[in-house]
Amino acid sequence: MKVKDKYILVISTSFQLIFFTFIPNFNFMLNEIAEITEKVKSFQIKTHADLTLYKQEISGKNGSLNDLFEMFKTIPGDQKKDVGKALNELKILVAEKFDEGVTFVESNNVTKSDKDETLPGKFLNFGKRHPLNLVNEEVINIFEKVGFITKEGPEVEDDWHNFSALNFTHDHPARDMQDTFFVNKENNILLRTHTSSVQVRTMLNEKPPMRIISPGRVYRCDSDATHSPVFHQCEGLYIDKNVSFSDLKDTLFYFVRSYFGNDTKVRFRPSYFPFTEPSAEMDIGWTVDGKFKWMEILGCGMIDPNVLKNCGIDPEEYSGYAFGMGIERLTMLRYKISDIRLFYENDLRFINQF
Ligand code: PHE
Repeated sequence: MKVKDKYILVISTSFQLIFFTFIPNFNFMLNEIAEITEKVKSFQIKTHADLTLYKQEISGKNGSLNDLFEMFKTIPGDQKKDVGKALNELKILVAEKFDEGVTFVESNNVTKSDKDETLPGKFLNFGKRHPLNLVNEEVINIFEKVGFITKEGPEVEDDWHNFSALNFTHDHPARDMQDTFFVNKENNILLRTHTSSVQVRTMLNEKPPMRIISPGRVYRCDSDATHSPVFHQCEGLYIDKNVSFSDLKDTLFYFVRSYFGNDTKVRFRPSYFPFTEPSAEMDIGWTVDGKFKWMEILGCGMIDPNVLKNCGIDPEEYSGYAFGMGIERLTMLRYKISDIRLFYENDLRFINQF
């Protein structure tokens, strides 16, 4: 029972007694003080939590000490002396205990010592760069050396920037739900299927000459050992007066020599893209599981005059080239990785090798 409650009980009993004896007895307060004194002496303050409890129960505004002082006010003058003396002694004891507690908690930094400091420390793993990031950065560096500026574009695109402006016909299979992730089919909002949409945005916003690369994530409904529904490309675009196909070839061979070295086997073969004419693809020779194979790393070509027109550039005055390379494929070739899915499993045994 709290001191206050006991007090109410005793007061009411005292009033009953008044009717019979007219002598209220406050000796119970001395008992109460003795009881609290014992409690204070045995109270252990070792942590912040103990200190809070001590304040709540004893030394604070609503603690026992204050209750006793409230009660003390109602004692008749002739009984005040003994109780007052005991109460003052208790007050000093409560304050001493509190000070001791504060000193202990502060000097032992007790919030920390709640933990067992003798346990061995936790080992923190050092972070590693993901191989795709390493390669992406290397590709950017190679192109920045010869004057390309890095530009990024949105991953959620509209049909116009991703397809129409790039000369894709309305019935082109890439526009099918099987090949493209649509965010909203009615409004033709989709996840970009290639970084070529950034070509369009750059041509619309800037005036030639322009020389940019645009790395980033792209999305296609496709999944097997060499295809992932999310993968990375790096787009390149150069527009100026008199840009020729040999400029394109020169830049791409400069890239291959810088990235793979001088002795790399390269195949440069004709291809088709709706937005370039002529178009080509580049393959790199590699040996995987003892077998020699070609792996396609990029598509490229001279920008189709229709695309230049769509983006407000006069094809009579300017010409340009574009290319788009797959970062996963460059990484697979560099590190001889035969399954693309290893990149996305977040297995530290794989990541820690780079
Ligand atoms: N956007 C094409 C693809 O994703 C690659 C490409 C880029 C081809 C630029 C030509 C020019 O396959």
